[in-house]
Amino acid sequence: MNVLKFYIHEEEHAVKASDVSPHTTLNNYLRKKANLTGTKNMCFEGGCGACIVAAAIKDPTTGREEILAVNSCLVPLYMCSGWRIFTAESIGTSRTGYHPVQKALVQFNGTQCGFCSSGMVMNMYALYESGDFTMRDVENSFGGNICRCTGYRPIMSAFKSLASDASKEHLGTFSDIEDIPVCKKSKEKCEITCASPCANSKRSLCFDFGESKWYKVFSINEVLDILENYSDATYMLVGGNTATGVHRRTQEPDIYIALNNIETLLNYRMNDRNLILGANMTLTNAMKLFYKLSKSHQNFSYLSKLAQHIDLIANVPVRNIGTLAGNLFLKHEHHEFASDIYLIFESVGATLTLVGTDREETSTTLEDYLSLDMRGKIIKNIVLPALDRTYKYQSYKITPRAQNAHALVNAAFLLKLDASDKVESARIVYGAINPSFTHAKKSEGCLIGKNLFDNRTLQTLFQTLDEELVPNHVLPDPSPEFRKKLAIALCYKFILSIAPDDKVSPRNRSGGKIYVRPVSRGTQDYETNESLYPLTQPIPKIEALAQCTGKAQYIMDMPDQPGQLYAAFVLAKAPANSTITSINPNKALKMKGVKAFYAKDDIPGDNDFTPTEAFLEFSRAEEMFCSGVVKYYFQPIGVIVADSQELAEKAADMVQVNYVEAKEKPLLTIRDLIAAKSNKISQEGKRDATKKGNDIKNVIKGRFDISWQYHYAMETQCCFVVPSEDGLDMYPSTQSLGAAQIAAAKVLKIPTNEINVSVRRIGGAYGAKISRNGLVSNAAALAAYKLQKPVKLSMPLITNMNAIGKRNPFTMDYEVGVNDKGVIQYLNASLYTDTGSEGGNENPAAAILNTFGNMYNREPWDVTVYSARSDTPTATWCRAPSNTEAIAAMESIMEHIAIELNLDPIQVRLENLSQATPDVEKYIRDMMEWAEVDKRKKEIEEFNKANRWIKKGISVVPMLYPIPYFGYWHVLVSVYQLDGTVSVAHGGIEMGQGINTKVAQVCAYALGIPLEMVKIKPSNSLTSPNAVTTESSFTSEAVCLATLHACGILKERMKPVKEKMPNASWKELVRQCYLEYVDLCATSLFQPKLPDLNGLSGYMIYGMACAEVETDILTGVSHITRVDILEDTGNSMSPEIDIGQVEGAFVMGMGYWTSEQIIFNEKGELLTNRTWNYKPPGVKDIPIDFRVKFPKKNPFPLGILKSKATAEPPLCMSCSVAFAIRQAVGAARSEANANDDKWYPIDGPSTVENSFLNSLHDYKQYTL
Ligand SMILES: Cc1cc2nc3c(=O)[nH]c(=O)nc-3n(C[C@H](O)[C@H](O)[C@H](O)COP(=O)(O)OP(=O)(O)OC[C@H]3O[C@@H](n4cnc5c(N)ncnc54)[C@H](O)[C@@H]3O)c2cc1C
Ligand code: FES
Ligand code: FES
Repeated sequence: MNVLKFYIHEEEHAVKASDVSPHTTLNNYLRKKANLTGTKNMCFEGGCGACIVAAAIKDPTTGREEILAVNSCLVPLYMCSGWRIFTAESIGTSRTGYHPVQKALVQFNGTQCGFCSSGMVMNMYALYESGDFTMRDVENSFGGNICRCTGYRPIMSAFKSLASDASKEHLGTFSDIEDIPVCKKSKEKCEITCASPCANSKRSLCFDFGESKWYKVFSINEVLDILENYSDATYMLVGGNTATGVHRRTQEPDIYIALNNIETLLNYRMNDRNLILGANMTLTNAMKLFYKLSKSHQNFSYLSKLAQHIDLIANVPVRNIGTLAGNLFLKHEHHEFASDIYLIFESVGATLTLVGTDREETSTTLEDYLSLDMRGKIIKNIVLPALDRTYKYQSYKITPRAQNAHALVNAAFLLKLDASDKVESARIVYGAINPSFTHAKKSEGCLIGKNLFDNRTLQTLFQTLDEELVPNHVLPDPSPEFRKKLAIALCYKFILSIAPDDKVSPRNRSGGKIYVRPVSRGTQDYETNESLYPLTQPIPKIEALAQCTGKAQYIMDMPDQPGQLYAAFVLAKAPANSTITSINPNKALKMKGVKAFYAKDDIPGDNDFTPTEAFLEFSRAEEMFCSGVVKYYFQPIGVIVADSQELAEKAADMVQVNYVEAKEKPLLTIRDLIAAKSNKISQEGKRDATKKGNDIKNVIKGRFDISWQYHYAMETQCCFVVPSEDGLDMYPSTQSLGAAQIAAAKVLKIPTNEINVSVRRIGGAYGAKISRNGLVSNAAALAAYKLQKPVKLSMPLITNMNAIGKRNPFTMDYEVGVNDKGVIQYLNASLYTDTGSEGGNENPAAAILNTFGNMYNREPWDVTVYSARSDTPTATWCRAPSNTEAIAAMESIMEHIAIELNLDPIQVRLENLSQATPDVEKYIRDMMEWAEVDKRKKEIEEFNKANRWIKKGISVVPMLYPIPYFGYWHVLVSVYQLDGTVSVAHGGIEMGQGINTKVAQVCAYALGIPLEMVKIKPSNSLTSPNAVTTESSFTSEAVCLATLHACGILKERMKPVKEKMPNASWKELVRQCYLEYVDLCATSLFQPKLPDLNGLSGYMIYGMACAEVETDILTGVSHITRVDILEDTGNSMSPEIDIGQVEGAFVMGMGYWTSEQIIFNEKGELLTNRTWNYKPPGVKDIPIDFRVKFPKKNPFPLGILKSKATAEPPLCMSCSVAFAIRQAVGAARSEANANDDKWYPIDGPSTVENSFLNSLHDYKQYTL
C-alpha cells in the first residue's frame, strides 16, 4: 500500500490511507494527529490566516525548494507528499532559542488575545526565510491574516523591523528582552536543503481510500489515462484546492488527481508573438514571471499590470498554491464569479489550449470556453499575445477593503490607438455585472475610428455603456445602480490615465491616478515612572512568547479525552414567527458515528441561557433551544452529538424540521418597526429640556442610522465539557465564570458546586462572549451530562455569524434649532436602539440616554430613547456598546449643523460645550495644536479646489466616556516557600486586553519582587466564586486593586517576621514566614463599595481623535491617511498594553464605520456570514500615519493606582473616519450638484458604495 510521506520540521511522518480520508486537511492532521495545536483555524476558507503554516516545497520546474506560507485549512494532506512543514512550535522554542520573527512579535507587543499570532508568525517566517524583503513587501504580505485585537500596527512594526530597508527608527523603543534567546540556526537564514528526500522521487502514486482515490502523477497523459479509465467517476483535478474557499465543495469526488507535479502544467514558453503559460502555474509564480518578463520584453511590458492585478487576488498563502486554471475553472462552474484571472486574460485577448481524453488539443477563446463541456478535458495552456506600444492597457478592481476581497466591480480596458489617437481596436471587459456579461461589445464598437480624446467620443462611449450594462441584483452584492455607475466611472478613469496631459484639464488629471499606498507608520507617545517599575513599565504581554510559539492553549486546543464527542447546533431555517410543527432527527441519527440529538424537551432544568439569578448580568430569561415559535432565522433548535466535528455538522444539516410560516413578514430593522407602528417599540427613557434658547436662526432636520457589527473574535464561541467524579468540568470561552456556572447548573438542574468552570484565556471576545456564550456552553454541558462523555462544541464561523447576535443597531431622528454660531437653542431627538428578537438583557437604552451629548450643554435638549425588538438574533454588547452610538449620533448632529451653516465643525462643538466639562475644551485645543489641524485643513481646502475627482476630508471628534464602578471579582495570591515565587488567580478573564500582564505588574510592584517571579493561573470558579463578567473596560483595574489588597494582606502577615530580619531577601523572608506558620495565601474581593473608590460610582475618560482621509471619487475608495489620538489613561499601569488597546479599538471601530456590513434577505436570513462577504479591516486599511499619545503628567488622583481604563473608549472616536469621508465626499457632492443637499445622512457604514453614490455621479460630467 502506498504511504504518504512528509516532514514536520525534523520529523518524518508516514501516513497510510487507512488512517485518514482524502479530504483530511493539513490543519486537521497537524491538530488532531500530530497534536500540534499551535496552528489554529477559524474560517476554513483561506480568509482569516489563523491556520497558516510554512512549507518547504520543491518547484518541479526549477528543482529549487522554496519556503511558502500556505493555509493549512485548504491544503489536502495528500498534497503534502514530499513537503517539509514548519509550524510555530517547530521554528523556535525555549530549548532551541526563538526565531527572530517570534522574538520581534513579542518585543513589539504584537499579540493580544494571541489567536492570530501563530498564523502571523508563520506567514512572516516564510517571507523571512525566502530572501531579502523590504518593509513594503512585509506590509503587502498580510492581506490574508486577520487580527481583530491589535489594529495591526504593532504586528507590522515588529515584522518591518526585520526588513532590509528598516532604519533605526523602525527597530522600536524596546531594549532586547535579554532572556529571549535567538535560534542560532535562524540568525543566518535557513539554507533550504531540507525538504524530505521523497520530494525527489518521480514515482506516480495512488492512495486508495476505498470510496475514493488520490493520484499523484507527473504527466498530462497519466491524468488523461485516469480520466479515460474512470469515465463515469466524479473527479477533481487538484491545483491548490483553494477554490473550495470560495465555493464550498458539498460533495467529495470519487477521484482526486493532483496536478502540482506536472511540469508542463507549471512551466512557460515564449516566442515573439506569444507567452505560453502552463495552466496550473500558481498565482504567485505567475506574478513573479510577469514582473520579470515585463522588464525584459517590451511587447510584454503590459504583464506588469497583470501582475499588479493578481496582487489584489486573495492573499499570499492562497496565491502560493492556487493556480490560474483553478481560478478559470471556478469561473466556468460559476459564471457569476467575478474572476480576476478571467478578466485580465480575456481583456488582453488570451486563448486557452485544452486537451481531452482523445488527446486532441484545441484552442479556444476564454469567452467560448465558458460554454464548453469540460468533462474529461484539461486546461493545458494559457496563451498571451504580444502587444506593442500602440496598445493602452489598464485593469481595475474595486473592493470593500484594500486586500483579500473580491471585486465589487472589476474592469479591464485594452485600446489600440493610431498615431492621431483614433481607436483601431477596443476590448472592454467587466466582472460583477451579471453572470452572462463579459464584453461591453457595443461600447467597444462605438469607439472604432473615433478620436479617443474628444469629449464627444467620451459621451457617446459612456452613454453606450449606460445602455449596455445591465447589472443583476443578488444580495449581498452591491446595488445595480452603483455597479453600473462605477463601471462607467472606471472607464472614464482609464481614459484620464492614458490621455496626454495637454488634453486634460488640470483639475481632472488626478482622477486618472491609481492610489499607491505609502508604507504605514505609527508613533506612540507616553511617559513612564521608572521608580514604580515594573508598574508603568512598557512591557509586552506576559503570555506573548507562549502565543508566538504555539504553546498558548485555547479551549479547542485541549487534548481530546477518551470517548471524546463533538456537538453542532441545528438551526431553524425559517423566518421569525414561524411555528415548528415537527422535528425529525432520524436521518441524522442513522449516520454512523452520530450519537444523539437533543432539543428543548431533553433539558432537565430550565430552557434558558441567561438566568436572572446572575443578577448583575441578566434581567430576563432567553430560551436556549427554540420552544416552538421561531424567534429569528437561524435560531438554535437543538444540538447533534457525534464522533467528529465534521460529522456533527453534516448530521445537523440532516435533521428535518417542518414549519408553518407566519403571515406577516419579519421586521428586520428599526425603520421597518417604525413604519409598521410595531408594538415592539417601547419608550425606555426621556430627558426634558430645562432651558431652551430663543435665538433660532436655522432649523435643521436629519436622521442617522447605523447597524450591526459582528464581533469577529478569531476564536469562535466554544466550550469543552468533561464529566468528572464530582460533576462537570467546564471550559467555556466565556467572559463570565459566574454566569456560565449558574446557567449550566440551572439547565441541568444540578447543584452549582457540581460545575467546575475554568478559563485560561479566550481568543478575543469584545462582548460576544458575555451572555451569548451561555448558549454554547449550556448545549455542550447538556450533551456531556446526558451522555456522560466529554463533548466539544466549537461553532463554525458561519453558524456563529448566523445564530449569534451582534452590536445593537441604532437610529435617530432629530430636529435642531440653532443660532448663527451653531449654538443649539432646542433639540428634539428620538433615539432607538435595536435589541433584537428577545431584547432586555443587553439593552443599551438607559446608557445611551446618559451618554448622549454628555459633554455638551444639554439644557435645551428633549431626548427620548426607545428600544425596538427587530426579528433578528438578540443583539449583544459589542466593544463600547451604547457609547459608540450615542457619541457618534451627537457628533453627527454637530457635523450637520456645521455643514448646513458653513461653519467650522470644531467651532460648533466648542460653542456647544458644557461648562461642566472644561477638560474637553483643553483636549480639543491640545489636539488642534499637536495635530496641526488648522494648517492641514487649509491644505485640504486648497487640494480640494485643485482636484475634481480626488477629495480629502478631516474630522476631529472629542470623547467623554463614562466608566462605571461595578463588579465582583476575587483575587487569590499564593507564595511558595521553596523559592518565593508567586501565583495569582483572579476572577477576570484574559481575552487579549492584558489583564494578566497588569495583574502581574501590580503584584510584583506591591510585593517588591521581579516580575518574572509572578505567574498568573487560569481563572476558575473555585478561587473566584460568583465572578461577574469581564467587561466595560474596568475589570483590569478592579482586579489590580484586589491584587494590591491581597498583596497588602500578605505583607501585613509577613511584617512581624520581616521586622526580625530586615535585611533578608524576599526568598529568605518567605521561607522564614513558612517556618513560622504565616499564611502565605491571601484572597481579596473587588466590589464597588471599597473605600479606595472614594464613594464614587465611576469616572470619566477624555479622548480626542483627528482623522484625515483621501477619497477617490471615481471609485468611492477612501484611504485613511492619518489619525491622531489623544487618550486619557491617567498614569497608565502598562503603557504598551494600553497603546495596544487604543489602536486595536480604533481600528475595530474603523471597520464598523467603513467596511463591515451585515445584510439579511427579506426573510431575515443572514447573507454576510463568511470571510468572503464580511470584511473587517486588514493590514492595509489601517491609518497610514497612526499617532497615539497619552497626555503627560496626567495622573487620575482618585483612580486605582492613578490610572484609567483603555479597552473600549477609543472605539467611540473612530466615527471621525466616517465624518472625514463625508467631508471628502461632500466636497465632490457640492461640485456635482450645487442644488442638492450638501449634507447626506450616515446610513450604515461609509462603504465604497455609499461614498460613491453620495458623490452624485453623472457621466455627463466626465470630461477631459
Ligand atoms: C480567500 C480567497 C480569496 C480569493 N479571492 C479571489 C479574488 O479576489 N479574485 C479571484 O479571481 N479569485 C479569488 N480567489 C479564487 C482563487 O484564485 C482560486 O481559488 C484559485 O485560483 C483556484 O486554484 P486552485 O489551483 O486552488 O484550484 P482547485 O481548487 O485546485 O481547483 C478548482 C477547480 O479547477 C479544476 N481544475 C484545476 N486545474 C485544472 C485544469 N488544468 N484543467 C481543468 N480543470 C482544472 C478542478 O477540477 C476544480 O474543479 C480567492 C480564493 C480564496 C480562497
Ligand atoms: S482557517 Fe484557514 S484561513 Fe481561516
Ligand atoms: S491578537 Fe490578533 S486576533 Fe487577537
